Amino acid sequence: MSLSIPHGGQLVNQMDFHFEVSSIPHAIEMDRMALSDLELIANGAYSPLTGFLSKEDYESVVSSMRLKNGIVWSIPITLPVTEKMADSLTLGEKVKLTYENMVYGVLELTEKYVPDKILEAEKVFRTTDLQHPGVKKLFSRPNVYLAGPVHLIKMPPKNENFHAFYKTPSETRGEFASRNWNTIVGFQTRNPVHRAHEYIQKTALETVDGLFLHPLVGETKSDDIPAPIRMKSYEVLLENYYPKDRVYLDVFPAAMRYAGPREAVFHALVRKNYGCTHFIVGRDHAGVGNYYGTYDSQKIFTQFSKEEIGITILPFEHTFYCTKCENMASTKTCPHPKEYHLHLSGTAVRTMLKNGIAPPKEYSRPEVIQVLRVSGTM
Ligand code: ADX
Repeated sequence: MSLSIPHGGQLVNQMDFHFEVSSIPHAIEMDRMALSDLELIANGAYSPLTGFLSKEDYESVVSSMRLKNGIVWSIPITLPVTEKMADSLTLGEKVKLTYENMVYGVLELTEKYVPDKILEAEKVFRTTDLQHPGVKKLFSRPNVYLAGPVHLIKMPPKNENFHAFYKTPSETRGEFASRNWNTIVGFQTRNPVHRAHEYIQKTALETVDGLFLHPLVGETKSDDIPAPIRMKSYEVLLENYYPKDRVYLDVFPAAMRYAGPREAVFHALVRKNYGCTHFIVGRDHAGVGNYYGTYDSQKIFTQFSKEEIGITILPFEHTFYCTKCENMASTKTCPHPKEYHLHLSGTAVRTMLKNGIAPPKEYSRPEVIQVLRVSGTM
């Protein structure tokens, strides 16, 4: 058995469901992103993080994609609060972390600091444009960051439509081991799986033992397809087109940052923690609009050694259906000119469905289109 070594050496576990909170006076109300970050720090998905970033770690992550001890980390994981809230808290105290007034965690407050959000936006998102959903989110959150180790004392609410799919990294590792998988390729997505995704997943699956289909189901921008519908579309797809013993479907409860290249690094490291040995990075991974170059999310990995990333990146060219090849292909494998290539944007597909036209089966499996049509989301 050769499952990947967790990032930083070992899986963090800060889940403590017996933690006594009755004597803790202060509480911080988290937003949905902070709640998911709390869960993912505590369950080890964000290993080696044990809490929200200290000022030194934050500045180091923003400027050089590393924690201050040199370990690669590309996305700041922070707990923003208002100045008023920050002023009411004393360093060294334990603070309850609530969501909709229910206590989910405890923060051991070690630091409060004011971030340079313009620098954070420039470095992490490569833009300060408020039209960028990640930048918009960054500036909509309050202006003081709190730091310190956290404890998860209660599991955050699971989506009732797919509550059985929330495994922790230690559970997915156990699952892979029980299937005797030595090599596992992780696939991140925030979309229904279309033919291009299927093609790159199956191409990878030709050379590894298992596919870990790991859709992100945390907060996404409003025009992304809601997670319950996507989950339904994954289930019909797996049922009809994938070998059951080679694929494992589970969810990644994180919020989407839309940080393109930096988020690709983050997505890869986290999937390593879940036990993957390989990770797919295709065209414009975690991108949005035209903020990033088509292959920037692949190029960024050249800034690190293979050892410090610790998971093998499988880069894929932009893939499409070629009507001349009568096959899925990319410019690496298809010699035909563009007019033979089927390209459909998300908007084009949405318009087709709205007008009662089913997108071609070369673009998406009919079973998937059916789920999207019935749900009325596209
Ligand atoms: S993501 O924002 O969660 O990364 P998405 O669901 O669009 O987005 O993509 C999931 C993965 O498939 C990413 O690695 C992305 O680069 C890759 N991908 C999506 N479409 C294509 C395509 N046509 N060709 C190659 N790779 C693709």
